[in-house]
Amino acid sequence: MKKIKVAVNGYGVIGKRVADAVVLQDDMELAGVCDVVSDWRIRVAEKKNYPVFAFNNDFKKQMTNSGVNAIGNLDDLIDTADIIIDCTPKKIASKNIEKYKKANIKFIVQGGEKHEITGHSFSAENNYATAIGLESTRVVSCNTTSIIRTLTALKKAGLLRKARGTLLRRATDPWESHLGGIMNTLVPEPEIPSHQGPDAQTVDNELDVITAAVKVPETLSHLHYWNVQLTRKASKEEVIAAFKESTRISMINYADGLSSNNTIKELMLAMGRPYGDMYEVALW
Ligand SMILES: NC(=O)c1ccc[n+]([C@@H]2O[C@H](COP(=O)([O-])OP(=O)(O)OC[C@H]3O[C@@H](n4cnc5c(N)ncnc54)[C@H](O)[C@@H]3O)[C@@H](O)[C@H]2O)c1
Repeated sequence: MKKIKVAVNGYGVIGKRVADAVVLQDDMELAGVCDVVSDWRIRVAEKKNYPVFAFNNDFKKQMTNSGVNAIGNLDDLIDTADIIIDCTPKKIASKNIEKYKKANIKFIVQGGEKHEITGHSFSAENNYATAIGLESTRVVSCNTTSIIRTLTALKKAGLLRKARGTLLRRATDPWESHLGGIMNTLVPEPEIPSHQGPDAQTVDNELDVITAAVKVPETLSHLHYWNVQLTRKASKEEVIAAFKESTRISMINYADGLSSNNTIKELMLAMGRPYGDMYEVALW
C-alpha cells in the first residue's frame, strides 16, 4: 500500500499532537515537521526521529547553529509531501496558503484561521463525507469541536431544536503559563454571540446555537454549560443514549469521584494518555 506522505508545518501544541497521530496511522508516513524554533521544542521532534525542516534558510541556519539537524526548508518539505497540515499560530497559515496552492498540494489549516480560507470547516462526526475529494479544509477549534459533537449527537437522535451555551475558556495553554494568562479574575468576552457559536455553524449551518464566553484563570481545559430546547419531551435515559451513540463523547459520573477538570486530567495521565489529553468531550 502506498502511504500518504503528510507534512506538519508548526510543531507547537497542535502540531506535535498531529505529528504523533500521523505516525500511528498504517496508511500515512510523516514527511517531516517544520518550525522556526531551535530549542527544546524542536529537539523533541528530532529525538522522535521526525525529519525536521525550517521555515526558511535563515531559520535553518539557526537550527544548525543550535545543533539541530534541519534537513531543508518549507519548500523542500512541500516537495516531499502529498498533504500539509498547517499548525502555525493564528493568522500565519493564511500567508502560507498561496505557497500550498502554487505547489498544488492538499492542505489543512486549524481553527485560528478563517473559514473562508478553505470554504470548508471539518468535524468528523458531523461532516466527514463532505470533505472527501476536497483540496483543503479547516479543522475547527477545540471549543467548536465540543459544541459540534454534543449538538450533533442530539440532532442525530432527532432531539435538537436550539442550544444556548456559556463557555468557560482556559486562560492560556499550560506550557505557556509562565509567559501570560489571567490570574484572580474572570474576563467576559464583550460580544454575544461569542465566535464559537457562529463557528459551529460553519460546519453545520442548520444548528440554532448561540454562545457567550468568559476567560477563567486556569489552564487545564475549557468547560461549557448548555441550555438545550428539545424537539419533544424526552426522558433522561433517551438523552443519555443519544450522547452514548458518539464515540467522541465520554459520559462522566460524579459518583466516580470525577467532580472537576483536574480530576479528569489526572485520570487521563493515569491512563497513560499522551500529554494527559482527553480525546473525547467529557460530559457530566
Ligand atoms: N492550543 C490549543 O489548545 C488549540 C486548540 C484548537 C486549535 N488551535 C489552533 O491551532 C493553531 C496552532 O495553535 P497552537 O496552540 O498549536 O500554537 P503554538 O504556538 O503552540 O504552535 C505554533 C508553532 O508554530 C511555530 N511557528 C511560528 N511561526 C512559524 C512559521 N512561520 N513557520 C513554521 N512554524 C512556525 C511556532 O514556533 C510553534 O512551535 C492555531 O490556529 C490555533 O488557533 C489551538
